[in-house]
Amino acid sequence: MTNKKENLMDKIVSLAKRRGFVFPSSEIYGGLAGVYDYGYYGVEIANAIKREWWKTMVQLREDIVGLDSSIFMNPKVWEASGHVSGFSDPLTECKSCHIRLRVDHLLEDKGIFADEKMTEEEINKIFSEHKSKIGCPKCGGKNFTDVKSFNLLVKSNLGNFTGDLKKDPVYLRGETCQGIYVNYKNVLDSSRLKIPFGIAQIGKAFRNEITARQFIFRTREFEQMEMQYFVHPDQEMEEYEKLRKDRWQYYLDLGIKEENLKWKKHENLVFYAKEAYDIEYKYPFGFSELEGVHARGDYDLTQHSKFSGEDLSYTDLINNKKYIPHIIESSSGVGRTFFAILCDVYNEEEINGEKRVVMKFPKKLAPIKVAIFPLLKNKPKLVEKAREIYDLLKLDYMCEFDDNGNIGKRYRRQDEIGTPYCVTVDFDSLDDEAVTVRDRDTMKQERVGMGELVKYLEEKLN
Ligand code: GAP
Repeated sequence: MTNKKENLMDKIVSLAKRRGFVFPSSEIYGGLAGVYDYGYYGVEIANAIKREWWKTMVQLREDIVGLDSSIFMNPKVWEASGHVSGFSDPLTECKSCHIRLRVDHLLEDKGIFADEKMTEEEINKIFSEHKSKIGCPKCGGKNFTDVKSFNLLVKSNLGNFTGDLKKDPVYLRGETCQGIYVNYKNVLDSSRLKIPFGIAQIGKAFRNEITARQFIFRTREFEQMEMQYFVHPDQEMEEYEKLRKDRWQYYLDLGIKEENLKWKKHENLVFYAKEAYDIEYKYPFGFSELEGVHARGDYDLTQHSKFSGEDLSYTDLINNKKYIPHIIESSSGVGRTFFAILCDVYNEEEINGEKRVVMKFPKKLAPIKVAIFPLLKNKPKLVEKAREIYDLLKLDYMCEFDDNGNIGKRYRRQDEIGTPYCVTVDFDSLDDEAVTVRDRDTMKQERVGMGELVKYLEEKLN
């Protein structure tokens, strides 16, 4: 990792905290590892990401409908899905400082690939062979415990009055798509949809990640945006290729630079999968998964049919033939998209010998669209006019009124949160009924009549 890359990570984490994008959770109590909160600007960005996703997946598609299923589900769901028996990561503990570590990550850092399908014994064998070359990232120690599989499902005590969590624990969902699979029949029976069709959902998921690290890239509580598309087996690969194209285009439309994205093919597929690719983003620590696009065959509905006893097959209305639909999936994370966007839009420029940090958010993702300033805060007429403009514009956009400090400082502050337009009311405004509009990217200033301001911004922002 080069210094430049490390720097970008530090700069983004620090800006995110300083400017109210992302806060560590319950920080006044020392925080909670792997859990973060979105701050007052962060929640605007996260909501904008979710809005864009929903628009692409649901609003613009006749064949995809939305869903909001519960976080808690019957525990049998997680047995059927394979999560109770197989949703685990290989864990070791440093015997010196007792930090817990993911063995596949330790091996990966040394260029040794540990397949996620390997058994505990197989990984243990590889780890034993290479242990001597690996040091604990915290204390440098070289003494590790044997590898153990650590299940990532988070247990709760919901409805468990005996206090024995080994008996029938209710889990916090480990992925949102299980809520889609178990509602597939309800959606089919209550709608006029026919195969092929999709169900989309945005919601929280929870995983007991061994090492929650890299800021909001890997957290223990996170939000997923998942779409499951139900198809005839013969259509699976054709629809899969369409979905791959759509998902790539989605990130370009979101404003992410194409050179920072790449496809990664899964070489070792789980037994039921037909094909699997991840879209990776170039985070400061290297290309890593932003989204998974997978062709899952009939595994999910077959498993849920078997475990629930419900017939989840589909009857083709033309030839009356029954079959279990195959599923293709798009699964992405709000946090990872948020982080990718922060990295993508971070810019440092030198203006007259001074550093300008500017977040060049695409306008649709900027947390504040317009900032309104009176030139001086102790001139009531300027303040009154600026407030009038603020009260008008806030009906259409997230706006901010700021009368603190000199105009240059106020511009810098808005640049750091990526506000596309700043409107200043000055002494001339009182005579000519016009304001100065400053563009974030070009820094050019334009005089705009107050009567034309709404239309001017509408053209620029929409
Ligand atoms: N239903 C398939 C599924 O859940 P996954 O690759 O485990 O697949 C899908 O997760 C997406 O969810 C990832 O690409 C990532 O964007 C997000 N995600 C997964 N684990 C995460 C974590 N611990 N923290 C933040 N985002 C995570």
